[in-house]
Amino acid sequence: MRRAVPVTAFALAGALALAGCGDEGSSGAELSVSGAYMPQPVSDMAAGFLTIANDGDRGARLTSVTSDLGEVTVHETSGQAMREVSSLDVPAHGSLVLESGGSHLMFGGLVKRPEEGQTVSVTLHFSGLDPVEVDLPVKPATYRPTSGN
Ligand code: CU
Repeated sequence: MRRAVPVTAFALAGALALAGCGDEGSSGAELSVSGAYMPQPVSDMAAGFLTIANDGDRGARLTSVTSDLGEVTVHETSGQAMREVSSLDVPAHGSLVLESGGSHLMFGGLVKRPEEGQTVSVTLHFSGLDPVEVDLPVKPATYRPTSGN
């Protein structure tokens, strides 16, 4: 009888933890990525653009980005200057848009220069959420997405 109590408590805690992981559809952040691309780099730096949509009821925070291609930082643009930021928010029922002239991913120290037609893999890291893998197709250096893309 004495042993049954802690075992039951442990099993219950485990069930609650599993429920917490599985109910993202109702109370968590629901992230999806679209429109990802990288203009073909012309130096040992490159930019990456994508849109992260959040259909969930809870905001998410992009805290870092990693890639085999090199170091990745998240930049904001204000006026003509860009600066590194430590995180960007993906609001609930909203989106975070990384686009040319705005916030973007910045790749530095490229181990190789990817070419048009190739794909660059990145991992988006979010506070308290599973990381999200994204493939960025490499586009011509002058590529601009059409509206509604
Ligand atoms: Cu930048």
